[in-house]
Amino acid sequence: MALYFDTWLLDVSVFLITLFTLFYVYFTWTYDHWKKRGVPFIKPTLVVGNFGDWAFLKSDVGQMFKSIYDKSKQNPFVGIWVFRNPAIVINSPDLVKTVLVKDFAHFADRSTHADRSHDPLGADNLFFGKNPHWKYMRVKLTHLFSSAKMKTMFHLMNDIGQDLEDCIGRSAGEPIEMKETSAKFTTDVIATTAYGLKANTLRDPKAPFNIFRKRLLDFRWIRAAQFMSIFFLQGFAKFWKCKVFEKDCEEWIRDVFWDTVNERERTKENRSDLIGTLISLKGQTEDKNITFTGDSLVAQVAVFFTAGNESSSTTMSFLLYELAFHPEIQEKLALEIKTVLAKYDNTITYESLQEMKYLDMCFKETLRKYPPLPFLDRECTIPYRIPGSSYTIPKGTIVYIPMMGLQHDPNYFENPSSFYPERFDKDNGKPIVPFTFIPFGEGPRICIGERYGSMQSRIGMAHILRRFEIKKCSKTESPLTWQTLALSPTTKGGIYLNFVPRKK
Ligand code: HEM
Repeated sequence: MALYFDTWLLDVSVFLITLFTLFYVYFTWTYDHWKKRGVPFIKPTLVVGNFGDWAFLKSDVGQMFKSIYDKSKQNPFVGIWVFRNPAIVINSPDLVKTVLVKDFAHFADRSTHADRSHDPLGADNLFFGKNPHWKYMRVKLTHLFSSAKMKTMFHLMNDIGQDLEDCIGRSAGEPIEMKETSAKFTTDVIATTAYGLKANTLRDPKAPFNIFRKRLLDFRWIRAAQFMSIFFLQGFAKFWKCKVFEKDCEEWIRDVFWDTVNERERTKENRSDLIGTLISLKGQTEDKNITFTGDSLVAQVAVFFTAGNESSSTTMSFLLYELAFHPEIQEKLALEIKTVLAKYDNTITYESLQEMKYLDMCFKETLRKYPPLPFLDRECTIPYRIPGSSYTIPKGTIVYIPMMGLQHDPNYFENPSSFYPERFDKDNGKPIVPFTFIPFGEGPRICIGERYGSMQSRIGMAHILRRFEIKKCSKTESPLTWQTLALSPTTKGGIYLNFVPRKK
């Protein structure tokens, strides 16, 4: 019955040995890449390269990049392997500046993979989009986030801030899970400011926006694996035809977009929000390859909804968590809010928020300790000689910036694991080293929603703190336990806190 040799046992043994050898050769083939090029590197582990901590679910992506940084920070840059693919990690703040800002032309794309033929909402949106499409879109959308636009949006955001205050008030005294509640707040804010819609997720748990918000950001195993492939295993993502948004979510976003567009066109309503801007782009052609139609418009709606939601709700919930553990910081912040608001007839206004300097420091310290996107990535699109070295990065190489490592380096931030907002006090005589604190990224691809995200988080915090004292409760995790499959720092047990009404 044997196939090739005398016995089937020999057949199977030879087959398995060949398979193992091929597998071994395939995975180790690239493992001398950095040695051959004289670039310092971190020794890889078979199959997983330097992504072992995350691949074996020992840590999340942010902690994995922190560990890579901690092992190699004596080198301005270091070679690593993402499974078997060589990539570069930039450790020195000066080089970070060079890659993100000075020589941006060589690194104008992110490394993520999304294929327009089967994933147009993924491929064409501003976050995942590649050049030249990205550049055209960025130019068209930037004005939506200007300071002037923020001022006009303030009142809409502030109304939702009141909804947040009321929502917490309805459950005050019971533990409230704040990641979820903050996410509802940011969903209602984006719906009203960008699409002119009332999502009502803070008031109605069954609101359609609530259901799809959860689906969009749901990190079940299979979704998490697809998403991580889009970020780190581009070849695999291509082969597996991974999509940034799932089919039912895509359909829901398309329906919301086209219903809103059709209604505005029918009523001739002219608003200068995201939908209004996309309507004005409809049908425009930038060159023969880029026409703003259909899904390239819907894609922007989809990404603003997801990018804006997760990042801001992560920041708000971790800030509340830290305040519950630091009553002295909480009281200082509550006093600042009370004192500033007293000057404004106890009303939260755009101007009053600008005066809340300690709130700004607390917000920054939260972004330092828990950066919602804990690493940045760029693809080298034009070969690049690294200044001060003889190494030229070839086209196609992926470059990572380990934000979680830089923002937790004791050389730049004393006692990095403690929550100390005063380190961001401009008058404390210790300026932050440039390019060691970049929670919104930097350069032309910096977060487009930086002002928007900061303003909505501050509005939310001012509403909560003027009315409630934040306390730990029996369900508050300490220390926090981390979900390893999520891209942003995400806790396993949620962020439960108690809210006690402040005495008038
Ligand atoms: C606390 C809030 C936020 C944080 C910490 C944050 C962080 C980031 C980071 C680190 C990047 C990558 C930047 C780079 O690669 O240099 C980014 C990109 C982006 N963010 Fe945010 N973000 C926040 C809020 C928002 C909001 C509210 C929106 C939309 C309403 C938004 C939309 C985007 C988009 C579209 C990009 C891609 C920009 C491009 O490539 O041109 N973000 N964000």
